[in-house]
Amino acid sequence: MRLLVTGGCGFIGSNLLKYLAKNRPDFQLVTLDKLTYAGNLENLKDLEGNPRHVFIKGDIGNRELVEHVLRTHQIDSILHLAAESHVDRSILGPEAFITTNVLGTNVLLEAARTVGISRFVMVSTDEVYGSLGPTGFFTETTPLAPSSPYSASKTASDLIALAYHHTFKMDVVVTRCSNNYGPYQFPEKLIPLMVVNALHDKQLPVYGAGTNVRDWLHVDDHCSGILLALEKGKQGEVYNFGGGAERQNIQLVKTILSLLKKPESLIKFVTDRPGHDLRYAIDPSKAKRELGWSPTYVFEDALAKTVQWYVENRQWWERVTSGAYRQYFDTQYKARLQS
Ligand code: NAD
Ligand code: TYD
Repeated sequence: MRLLVTGGCGFIGSNLLKYLAKNRPDFQLVTLDKLTYAGNLENLKDLEGNPRHVFIKGDIGNRELVEHVLRTHQIDSILHLAAESHVDRSILGPEAFITTNVLGTNVLLEAARTVGISRFVMVSTDEVYGSLGPTGFFTETTPLAPSSPYSASKTASDLIALAYHHTFKMDVVVTRCSNNYGPYQFPEKLIPLMVVNALHDKQLPVYGAGTNVRDWLHVDDHCSGILLALEKGKQGEVYNFGGGAERQNIQLVKTILSLLKKPESLIKFVTDRPGHDLRYAIDPSKAKRELGWSPTYVFEDALAKTVQWYVENRQWWERVTSGAYRQYFDTQYKARLQS
C-alpha cells in the first residue's frame, strides 16, 4: 500500500504516521504538509531515516504539485487530514479555513479523480453536527448543523468528498470524531494550553461558566479508527468515533491543575466564545459494529500520561510556540483575560 497522508506534521497526522509505521511496516508513507504554524517537522523525528517514509512540503491547494505527488509516488490511497483546525482562529479570520478546508480539499479530490486512486479517507469532525443539549448523542444520520466557520468549512469538505462518491463513483469514506488528546497537540487547544499556562503559573482562561462538554478521544484510538476505515470501511459511508469520555471543561481543567499540583485560583472565567457549542457526544456503535473498532484508552489514566508528556517535553512546546505564534498567542491571551 502506498499512502498519502496530508497534514502529517500536525497533531493527529504525526501520531497517525507513527501508528502506521508501527502497525503496518509494509506501507509506503508519503506526507504532504504546508508546515503552517500548526505543522512541525519535529513531530516526525521518530520517522527520520525510515526508508518507508517521505516528506514533501507543499499546499493541498496546489493542483500541479498534488498531481505530481500522486503520480510520482504511485499513491494508492489518501488519508486527508490537512486543515486549519482551531475554532477560535476561525472566529478571528475565516478566510484561511475556506481556502484550505474547502477549496484545498476540492483540489485534492479533483487531482485524485484525475490520477485515479483506490480510496480517499476524509477525516472530518463531530463538529459538523453542531451542538447537543444536555442529553442525546450524534449518530451518522444526525442532521448537519455546524456553528463556527471552522465546522462549516469542515462540513463543506466532508459533503464535497461524499459528493465525489455519489457523482463520480470515487471510493470515499468519511470519519467524524470527537475531541482528540495526546502528545504533540499544539498548545492552543484546551488541554495543552491549560497545561502550559499552569506550568508558567499563568491564569487559565475558561470560557463562560466552563459547563460546555466535550467527549475526549485518545489520539491513538482515533488513529486505529482511521486505519480501520481505510481497510474495512464501506465506500460512501460515514463512521463516527468517540471516546465515551464526556467531561465539562471546568472539571477537566481542575483535574489538570490537580495533576500538576497547582492551585485552582489560577482559573479565570472569561467571556464565552461566540456561538460556543454546548455539548458534543458521539454514538460510535456503527464503527464498533461494522469496523470492529473500540476505544482502548481509559480517560483519567491517559490524561495523566498526556499531562506528563507535556511536563517532560517542555523544549518541544517552547519551540513550537516561539516566533510568529508567540505574538498571536500573547495578544489573544491578554484580550481573553481582560474580557
Ligand atoms: P493540526 O492543526 O494540528 O494540524 C493540521 C496540519 O495540516 C498541520 O501540519 C498543517 O501544517 C497542515 N496544513 C494546514 N493547511 C495545509 C495546506 N493548505 N496544505 C497542506 N497542509 C496543510 O490539526 P489536527 O488537530 O491534527 O487535525 C487533523 C485533522 O483532524 C483536521 O482535518 C481536523 O479537522 C480533524 N479533526 C481534529 C480533531 C481534534 O480534536 N484535533 C477532532 C476531529 C477532527
Ligand atoms: P478546543 O480545544 O478549542 O476544541 P473545540 O473548540 O474544537 O472543541 O476547546 C475545547 C473546549 O474548551 C471548548 O468548549 C472551548 C473551551 N476552551 C476554553 O474554555 N478556554 C480556552 O482557552 C480554549 C482554547 C478552549
